[in-house]
Amino acid sequence: MTTQDDLKRQVAQSALRFVRAGQVLGVGTGSTVDLFIDALAAAKLDVKQAVSSSERSTAKLTAIGIEVLDLNDVDELPVYIDGADEIDGGFHMIKGGGAALTREKIIAAVAKTFVCIADASKRVEVLGRFPLPVEVVPMARAHVARELARLGGRPVWRQGVVTDNGNVILDVHGLSITEPVATESRIDRIVGVVTNGLFAARGADVLLLGSADGVRELRR
Ligand code: 5RP
Repeated sequence: MTTQDDLKRQVAQSALRFVRAGQVLGVGTGSTVDLFIDALAAAKLDVKQAVSSSERSTAKLTAIGIEVLDLNDVDELPVYIDGADEIDGGFHMIKGGGAALTREKIIAAVAKTFVCIADASKRVEVLGRFPLPVEVVPMARAHVARELARLGGRPVWRQGVVTDNGNVILDVHGLSITEPVATESRIDRIVGVVTNGLFAARGADVLLLGSADGVRELRR
């Protein structure tokens, strides 16, 4: 039987086809990305430099000899490879299960091509079954939670988690996100929100979707 981990490994392997020798590579965060970094190490491709969306990925990249650059020192980023918690038919995503959403969104904004690597369980018709992560400045947590509740969600503080930027996460349950671009911008307008995990205005460009039938490459 093919497990979810098998599918993650397959899409991670398949993403190597987007890696170009000599280019700076954008690398996201999560268990699928961890497998991608493992595949990158095994493939011995000529990748010397990357930008990374988390301390976790930075540690893994550094351990395999890839220099992690400050994004401010990078003029162009041809490709960014990252996972997702959910992705819909319009390539809008929910991300942030690994609490790295802010750096992920910044790198996605710079990248020319966002390649999403996901197993088939992540593909949904309507976003929102996965609780939407929202990164919040700590002193604004209760205020932001009240505002999110007014939008119809049920925010839950991810206790014990501090992001790489020193902030906290509220996971918003019970949303059915039929208008992802509007919802992303509405939540961003709440004072105290750093980033929300809807990647809708800037979604993925390519989806590598792993299923028991193999990896499908889909383009927006
Ligand atoms: C981290 C993310 C990840 O891409 C997302 O949570 C998917 O993770 P995984 O590959 O472990 O399923 O957004 O902040």
